[in-house]
Amino acid sequence: DPVGDGAEGGHMHREMLDQPAAAERVLRGRLDERFGTAHLGGLNMDARETRAIRRVKILGCGSAYYVGQMGASLVEELARIPADAEAASEFRYRDPVIEPDTLYVAVSQSGETIDTLLAVEEIRRKGGRVIGLVNVVGSAIARACDGGIYLHAGPEVAVASTKALTTMFLGFSLLALQLGRTRDLSIADGKRLIAGLQALPAQIEEVLKSEDQLALVAARLAEAESLFFIGRVRGFPVAREGAQKFKEITYRHAEAYQTSELKHGPLALISPVVPTVAIVPDDELADRNVAALHEISARGGPLVVVTHPDVDLGDVRCERIDVPRSERELDPILMTIPLQVLAFHAATTLGLDVDKPRNLAKSVTVE
Ligand code: G6P
Repeated sequence: DPVGDGAEGGHMHREMLDQPAAAERVLRGRLDERFGTAHLGGLNMDARETRAIRRVKILGCGSAYYVGQMGASLVEELARIPADAEAASEFRYRDPVIEPDTLYVAVSQSGETIDTLLAVEEIRRKGGRVIGLVNVVGSAIARACDGGIYLHAGPEVAVASTKALTTMFLGFSLLALQLGRTRDLSIADGKRLIAGLQALPAQIEEVLKSEDQLALVAARLAEAESLFFIGRVRGFPVAREGAQKFKEITYRHAEAYQTSELKHGPLALISPVVPTVAIVPDDELADRNVAALHEISARGGPLVVVTHPDVDLGDVRCERIDVPRSERELDPILMTIPLQVLAFHAATTLGLDVDKPRNLAKSVTVE
């Protein structure tokens, strides 16, 4: 039994299943239903200071970087503040301009990743304000920041991040909500988001219940030497995280691409031996995404489509994975969960040590 207690992959499996509870922990006591906002006391910023923010810059490594991209979308959509994410490992080497009205956000499960820590120190040396989204209490990054949000994911042992990543996404949702409500986000929209956040733990549980179906799909994906993960706008960081997880534990070549860029290159590689995992939320881009699926199908490319029940995929031949509808801004997290399960089962099918993939460390603390 590859998923039993103490067996190989036991940590990652347990941590995946702990996600509904972890989601509840990170939200607990931080939602204000009456005013449709979030209360993040640890930010150490008053309303005047949060209103003065003109830009948000998110820094992290690996999965924390990809969830940072999801977080940047949340901040832009809910607070209408320009936001982006960058790999901390690159940021600190390019002599970045540090601006006083930018809020810098460091994201890290361990709080010990050296690239992220040194980026924080560099920003502070130049007078910038940094908050941390960190899981491990009292870790180096948590101590180096001006304030922050603890993630309360609980200990995460498997190298491939699952529940920490989910709590990071929710941490960004809370931050975006609080920033939004000190600006133009209406109380009605705030309440809509809160209801969406409160529904997530049960919805995550529902996605995890489809594990048996996902395991069958994963066994087929495991046979491929090379795969694409595609998505666009909100779906692209989901695809990046999905590809990262797949490659780090299955050792298959998994490449993330913007669906919109397929025709500008990688379509040439699509064939019956190169499967594509596509992220197709029920949003304003659904029709365009489905058109891209037809292009892949026409070239004999096997398809796995992570989507919502209302999306009409026409006659596209694929393995369809439906996740529950959420508030649009929150869709990325429910679409990330099945990709974890796919990677996990593909790796166990291949007989690999899921918890400790070769050449990787849980946290990279030396340069
Ligand atoms: C390592 C791990 C990744 C992880 C990254 C960031 O590279 O292999 O899975 O996402 O570090 O770790 P952190 O503790 O900063 O979130």
